[in-house]
Amino acid sequence: MAKMEVKSSLLDNMIGVGDMVLLEPLNEETFINNLKKRFDHNEIYTYIGSVVISVNPYRSLPIYSPEKVEDYRNRNFYELSPHIFALSDEAYRSLRDQDKDQCILITGESGAGKTEASKLVMSYVAAVCGKGAEVNQVKEQLLQSNPVLEAFGNAKTVRNDNSSRFGKYMDIEFDFKGDPLGGVISNYLLEKSRVVKQPRGERNFHVFYQLLSGASEELLHKLKLERDFSRYNYLSLDSAKVNGVDDAANFRTVRNAMQIVGFMDHEAESVLEVVAAVLKLGNIEFKPESRVNGLDESKIKDKNELKEICELTSIDQLVLERAFSFRTVEAKQEKVSTTLNVAQAYYARDALAKNLYSRLFSWLVNRINESIKAQTKVRKKVMGVLDIYGFEIFEDNSFEQFIINYCNEKLQQIFIELTLKEEQEEYIREDIEWTHIDYFNNAIICDLIENNTNGILAMLDEECLRPGTVTDETFLEKLNQVCATHQHFESRMSKCSRFLNDTSLPHSCFRIQHYAGKVLYQVEGFVDKNNDLLYRDLSQAMWKAGHALIKSLFPEGNPAKINLKRPPTAGSQFKASVATLMRNLQTKNPNYIRCIKPNDKKAAHIFNESLVCHQIRYLGLLENVRVRRAGYAFRQAYEPCLERYKMLCKQTWPHWKGPARAGVEVLFSELEIPVEEYSFGRSKIFIRNPRTLFKLEDLRKQRLEDLATLIQKIYRGWKCRTHFLLMKKSQVVIAAWYRRYAQQKRYQQIKSSALVIQSYIRGWKARKILRELKHQKRCKEAATTIAAYWHGTQVRREYRKFFRANAGKKIYEFTLQRIVQKYFLEMKTRMPSLSPIDKNWPPRPYLFLDSTHKELKRIFHLWRCKKYRDQFTDQQKLIYEEKLEASELFKDKKALYPSSVGQPFQGAYLEINKNPKYKKLKEAIEEKIIIAEVVNKINRANGKSSSRIFLLTNSNLLLADQKSGQIKSEVPLVDVTKVSMSSQNDGFFAVHLKEGSEAASKGDFLFSSDHLIEMATKLYRTTLSQTKQKLNIEISDEFLVQFRQDKVCVKFIQGNQKNGSVPTCKRKNNRLLEVAVP
Ligand SMILES: Nc1ncnc2c1ncn2[C@@H]1O[C@H](COP(=O)(O)OP(=O)(O)OP(=O)(O)O)[C@@H](O)[C@H]1O
Ligand SMILES: [Mg+2]
Repeated sequence: MAKMEVKSSLLDNMIGVGDMVLLEPLNEETFINNLKKRFDHNEIYTYIGSVVISVNPYRSLPIYSPEKVEDYRNRNFYELSPHIFALSDEAYRSLRDQDKDQCILITGESGAGKTEASKLVMSYVAAVCGKGAEVNQVKEQLLQSNPVLEAFGNAKTVRNDNSSRFGKYMDIEFDFKGDPLGGVISNYLLEKSRVVKQPRGERNFHVFYQLLSGASEELLHKLKLERDFSRYNYLSLDSAKVNGVDDAANFRTVRNAMQIVGFMDHEAESVLEVVAAVLKLGNIEFKPESRVNGLDESKIKDKNELKEICELTSIDQLVLERAFSFRTVEAKQEKVSTTLNVAQAYYARDALAKNLYSRLFSWLVNRINESIKAQTKVRKKVMGVLDIYGFEIFEDNSFEQFIINYCNEKLQQIFIELTLKEEQEEYIREDIEWTHIDYFNNAIICDLIENNTNGILAMLDEECLRPGTVTDETFLEKLNQVCATHQHFESRMSKCSRFLNDTSLPHSCFRIQHYAGKVLYQVEGFVDKNNDLLYRDLSQAMWKAGHALIKSLFPEGNPAKINLKRPPTAGSQFKASVATLMRNLQTKNPNYIRCIKPNDKKAAHIFNESLVCHQIRYLGLLENVRVRRAGYAFRQAYEPCLERYKMLCKQTWPHWKGPARAGVEVLFSELEIPVEEYSFGRSKIFIRNPRTLFKLEDLRKQRLEDLATLIQKIYRGWKCRTHFLLMKKSQVVIAAWYRRYAQQKRYQQIKSSALVIQSYIRGWKARKILRELKHQKRCKEAATTIAAYWHGTQVRREYRKFFRANAGKKIYEFTLQRIVQKYFLEMKTRMPSLSPIDKNWPPRPYLFLDSTHKELKRIFHLWRCKKYRDQFTDQQKLIYEEKLEASELFKDKKALYPSSVGQPFQGAYLEINKNPKYKKLKEAIEEKIIIAEVVNKINRANGKSSSRIFLLTNSNLLLADQKSGQIKSEVPLVDVTKVSMSSQNDGFFAVHLKEGSEAASKGDFLFSSDHLIEMATKLYRTTLSQTKQKLNIEISDEFLVQFRQDKVCVKFIQGNQKNGSVPTCKRKNNRLLEVAVP
């Protein structure tokens, strides 16, 4: 979603005026009042056009939060209230978008806030530039290089608790997208004299205090150090602790930062070892010792410290000891050794300490550069941030201050060149109407210092290189001679009569009127410091160290590489590096931050007007405003201007044919920009007010959006149209192919239909012809047949008389007769036996005799059966009738039946007539006995059986005792209602009697007989013949019998074989009688 943009402006809620250009009236007083008013309201930043003035608040303000970063991100410079972020954003964006290398020049005196400002710029750029793991690592390394360098290069001074004691210029490198790639740091002249001596109220470099406070006991022991500051001569004690600074915590921060920047553990350790060695060097003390030849000689008082240093740095103790006692001078293959007196020994010691430390510092910078340098070779865009020590005026100003102030002069010079001089010159060059503004140009002071023939630095070098006795005094003398007439040089001893009586100017000093004020320099130490001599014996001793880092710091100590040429002096080295820096800065687009210190007390809320006034004066800020106000805020060559804004006017868009200037003229008049707002120079357009520029920018932005929309629109239209055309073309091709295919198909269909119709028609025609032809043929054949028959009839009629008309029939009949004859004759011989059960029958000889053959077989069988029957007597016939009856009654119903078929029915098994035993019985029965047999009568009560003679006569059924032959029961056949038996292979049967009859008083009978089938059959036949009623014979495995009053169920079950094959009977209870049949 598009962010809602609320157009704000610098002018909104403004305290005083945010841009000094708008100040009315403009004078020193209003200028300072405006600054003060803003400062009192916590507005520490104020603009002069694009220059930012920053007043040190000496307290933390809530104006650097991430939200603030977001506020200032991608906003126009004048859109929000003045802020260092606005300048950073402007610089970063013009670097990224317009491909212009930038430099941010931060100037101001010591304690004015330069280092803080440089860190704010870096952190802002880090926050707004690209993101991603790799980029973040680069950013982190760039940012973390600060704490490391500050620990080693910053110290507490009377002006600033964290004063930078070296100059720093850092190039941050970006790729085309504006993502940081890496950086390069250049350092300028570390104030190394601080290592051995600090002015009152000041401290040595932070790292010494941090190490002693923050290192663990173990580390201290390893470095052979003690925590007590007072143990070390090099540490000033009166301000060992700084308010609000936690050295121990800072030590941890530094170690952590070293790790992030990429120092190996062993590297960090080596660095601390060197720091420890420097600290311990200060504790080496010398005492005089007279030698025999009368020369003074020094001797180390207590060798313990020396021993420890040698252990720390792996230097041979004797070598180092000798280096502190002798000085060897080599000249043209001659070596001369002289002893050192006590003062010289101390000088040598301090020189060693200073050199060791300053070389370590340079090594650190190189090491950091190695880590942070960009890893690619692609073209880089560069943003340089210059944080150089501020202008300094101390009570005692020495060589260092001279150098520092010279550097500041140069910076002022470049500021003047780029803003004041260049600006005015440009107006003249461009023929713009312009009233000249006077300003102080400090080029003359720079010349005093750096002039190659008679500049102070040249004089100093000359003096240092001169043979003979050279002292600081001889140097001053020389200056007095050469620079006496210079306006900005002051010396009591010079020939210039102006200062002869100036008591504020001691004899051993010279004074320079710097752009920022007069500074009195003590000439003492200038020569030494410029020479920066380290006795060769010491550098060789260092080179011999087993400590790799120390060895690498003193390459000149290598005897193989002895260089008899003097090394360049400190002054000339500095001059050269400053010149390089200036050249570098001139190639970049400058952005200025001018830091102002509101008071000398490092205190918040105090605004010392005179102090500020002094700074405003020497910084030339008022002139800056005047030039700005009289001039034009913005200028640009016609071509790029037209190129940038040509889309704002129809005539110039998209191409302007004429000269660029005319194009810009048309453009501006079209846009109706008031004429007083701009001027046409020779090659550039000058825009007076930034607001006009912003208006142009806004219009351009709007127009670009419109154009983007237009391009988008046309592109989309084009895309859709090409797509459509492609589709259309494709559609035509597809349609053509389809039509072709459809037509082909249709043609094929019509063709095949035509063929079908054709073939039908042809077929039909052919069939018609065929039919006709067939008809004709049949007609012909019929005619022929009819003719043939007709002829036949005619012929037969004619020849009948010559034929035996019935011969065929007769022959046929004769043949048939013969065959039948033969058949019967053959059959006669092949007749089967006369047994009715013989199934044989000869095979049939002729098919046509089939039915005859079957019929013959049937007749033959009937005949032989008749024959067989005819043999029977009447008795036999009766027996067979009975057998037939038995078959009808029991076949397939009673399992006992098949075994009875073979047994002849005898009826009277007991020969009652003949056996005298049954004489009585015989007499009792008058009728004919049909059955006389012994049966088992089942006892109704217990199922046990007892033998009885069973007798059947024509009208009665009798039971008699077997032994006595006495009749026990007599039942007339009419009283017998039913006979029941099982379906199984047993001989049990029940005789049911008519209810109520006399015989039935005891109940039904239950018998068992070996001739059950015969007895039942005979009973049935006799009953039928006597009563004309069929006796009911029930065959069932479960039936009811009436025993006296009880109805008892007789149940036949499958019995076991235990009792042999005889069925057994058992009365189970009064309702059940069980017969087990094996
Ligand atoms: N923007 C700021 N907000 C809060 N405090 C600040 C700000 N700028 C500077 N200070 C305070 O002022 C002190 C001095 O600032 P800084 O070290 O930047 O001065 P300097 O100009 O670099 O001095 P030198 O030339 O001695 O190095 C800081 O330690 C800090 O306490
Ligand atoms: Mg600083």
